[in-house]
Amino acid sequence: MIPHFEVGEDFARAMDERDPLKHFRERFHFPEIGGCNGVYLCGHSLGLQPKTVSSYIEEALKDWADLAVEGHFQAQHPWMPYHRLLSEQTAELVGAKPIEVVVMNSLTVNLHLMMVSFYRPTRTRHKILAERGAFPSDQYALQSQIRFHGFDPATSLVELTPLPGEFCLREEEILSLIERSGDEIALIMLGGVNYATGQAFDMEHITRAGHAHGCVVGFDLAHAAGNLELELHDWGPDFAVWCSYKYLNGGPGCIAGCFVHERHAHALELPRFAGWWGHDEKSRFKMGPEFRPMPGAEGWQVSNPPIVSLAALRASMDIFHEAGMPALRAKSISLTAYLEFLLNRVASKKVSIITPVNSEQRGAQLSIRMSQNGRTIYEKLAQEGIVGDWREPDTFRVAPVPLYNSYGDVYRFVERFAEGVG
Ligand SMILES: Cc1ncc(COP(=O)(O)O)c(C=O)c1O
Repeated sequence: MIPHFEVGEDFARAMDERDPLKHFRERFHFPEIGGCNGVYLCGHSLGLQPKTVSSYIEEALKDWADLAVEGHFQAQHPWMPYHRLLSEQTAELVGAKPIEVVVMNSLTVNLHLMMVSFYRPTRTRHKILAERGAFPSDQYALQSQIRFHGFDPATSLVELTPLPGEFCLREEEILSLIERSGDEIALIMLGGVNYATGQAFDMEHITRAGHAHGCVVGFDLAHAAGNLELELHDWGPDFAVWCSYKYLNGGPGCIAGCFVHERHAHALELPRFAGWWGHDEKSRFKMGPEFRPMPGAEGWQVSNPPIVSLAALRASMDIFHEAGMPALRAKSISLTAYLEFLLNRVASKKVSIITPVNSEQRGAQLSIRMSQNGRTIYEKLAQEGIVGDWREPDTFRVAPVPLYNSYGDVYRFVERFAEGVG
């Protein structure tokens, strides 16, 4: 439940004192710019480094130094099955069964691998339904897959567009488009949370509507994993992909995540781009010529994974497991509502929040549209260590992250922001 908010720093201090998750803040390195007056609200872009990351990586480096190739089997945490150290916690994070998840590659690579298997256009059903203005990498991936199959994005890519004068999509518009054109849509491929507006989609409804019309349904959860409570198994999309460097704090370019619903776990006939790490582990080292995939999401692995990156991610996932998504989400809803409450008092025609007001339709991020001097204000704040990010042409995105941000951070951000806006 969202508490009653008050203006003034004392209120922020009191909320922080009462916060049951407040001790997690101490477990992260904060950037030094701005010193103790700095505020980091950019976890939607790059999450902060958990202080334990170095010891997890140290362990892997030491095993490499001491054991070299033997580390595959004799390391403290042997490298051969190392990625499985993340299976349970990744499954918990996204509401899946362990067989449905794997950490591998990067987000866009995983999106391509998933589309190889799940975008199977035919002459009558060749369209992909996506958001207009989806993250560019997704747009490029979708367009290139369409062309790869000999179709034309101009006719095969259907983009959901907000109504004139609006910034977010209306759920009824999404569902009605699926209702109208579902029989021509091969794949529905949406973000769980739109990167620009911060709008969260109702993945359960969309999946149900898509499946009712015979569409395959996939989600890009770059801005949803570690931000929203997800129930992927129950909601039932065919696949999902996400990165681990935003809310998941795995570090720049960290190994990414992938979900393939259990109903496809044994669909060995699905076409896929294969590599030896997806091959049945019992016979992988027999080095035979015939590919036999592992059951479940692991069967989509291609290469042996980067252990150092997995180690960094483990450090963060251990913290997520300890804090638990329900508690994190409860704090996030309150913290973001507090940010909204304070921003709404910055009485100015120059700024407006384009993220939905309803907490069920957003995560931690608020996107602030700035009609004047937005970029200058953003840059000035960044120099003082007040960090959000800027998306051309006019959007200042900020996200108070419940693991390490405080009500005091939000208060200080809005105080400086208001001064900048004038
Ligand atoms: C929504 C979304 N999709 C895709 C990407 C691209 O991710 P990667 O470079 O890890 O493939 C990003 C990166 O920020 C993103 O925000």
